[in-house]
Amino acid sequence: MKHDEQILRELYRSGDEGVCANFLATKIGTSCAALWKRIEELRRIGFEILTNRINTNQIDAGHSDHYRLLSSPDLLFGEDLMARIHSPKIHSPKILGRQIQVFRETASTNEIAQRLGKDGVAEGVIIFSEHQTRGRGRLGRHWTSARGKGILMSVLLRPQLRPSQAARLTIIAATAVSRAMKCIANVSPSIKWPNDVMFKGRKLAGILTEMHAESGQIRYLVLGIGINVNQKNEDIPEHLRSTAASLKMICAHSIHRATLATAIIEALDADYQKLLCGDFPKLIHEWETRCETLGKIISVHFGNRHIEGCAETIDADGALLVRTASGQRIRVSASEVSIRSNKRQS
Ligand code: BTN
Repeated sequence: MKHDEQILRELYRSGDEGVCANFLATKIGTSCAALWKRIEELRRIGFEILTNRINTNQIDAGHSDHYRLLSSPDLLFGEDLMARIHSPKIHSPKILGRQIQVFRETASTNEIAQRLGKDGVAEGVIIFSEHQTRGRGRLGRHWTSARGKGILMSVLLRPQLRPSQAARLTIIAATAVSRAMKCIANVSPSIKWPNDVMFKGRKLAGILTEMHAESGQIRYLVLGIGINVNQKNEDIPEHLRSTAASLKMICAHSIHRATLATAIIEALDADYQKLLCGDFPKLIHEWETRCETLGKIISVHFGNRHIEGCAETIDADGALLVRTASGQRIRVSASEVSIRSNKRQS
């Protein structure tokens, strides 16, 4: 484990009490002088770390420095995210976040995660980037996000599922993102099937699930998540201004991205573990309570085909079941549709 991650873990764990420099240096196997250098480097990055000199022995005037973390910068920093995820005193084993890599710039975090998937890297790796030059969206669209303002992340997973069940992951991701937004920003978004996280008709986040399957089994799957966090109106491309929003635009204040990213990882990890234990029906229930598509008349476009009907429910694979005017129930899978209109059933 890297020293900065160990230092930050102990600082998060010790909270307002702070941590003794001698103890910390011994724990990470370094000298107090080397520890001091790392603390100075963390301060340079933007971590506000207070030093208190505490007398430990009145007779020989022994003393020890105490470090206390006051605040952390609004940047995504791999060691910090790892420390946040793994610092709770009651440790719960996690699949997500076994390894986290943060890039200043990349073409697409999904592209990197897919490469790792192809190379046989274990599931749970998360790739973040502060900027993407070729961010991918669904149905061949682009995903653009002003540098350092959003969360652009891709999670590599290896669920033992059939390719037809991949939509389950999109469903748990949309639910986890919505729950984390409520918890950190006090915003209650709705989910527009299959992958949009919305607030009052505007898109806050999108999910792109890409996978590679062989012999009827998913080999690896990448959950790409793009979230509009601290963009101002002018940071959003002009043609999207009436349909997209950021959390900052809704809350009228900035949201600390590392805190939100941590909440997303924790929520998604918990739900992924439930999914692996066969608890998908319970997860569907939470998704349904947040979904704005169910009960509405929707138009669905499959290439050249078009159907209109009431979105009734989703099935165990995450496909949408649409009842047409003629009473026919049509199963619509996320990979092939775009929903064009969204009226409530009268
Ligand atoms: C959509 O709504 O169309 C899905 C958008 C998904 C965007 C994210 S940003 C991080 C990850 N990397 C990508 O290239 N795309 C996804």
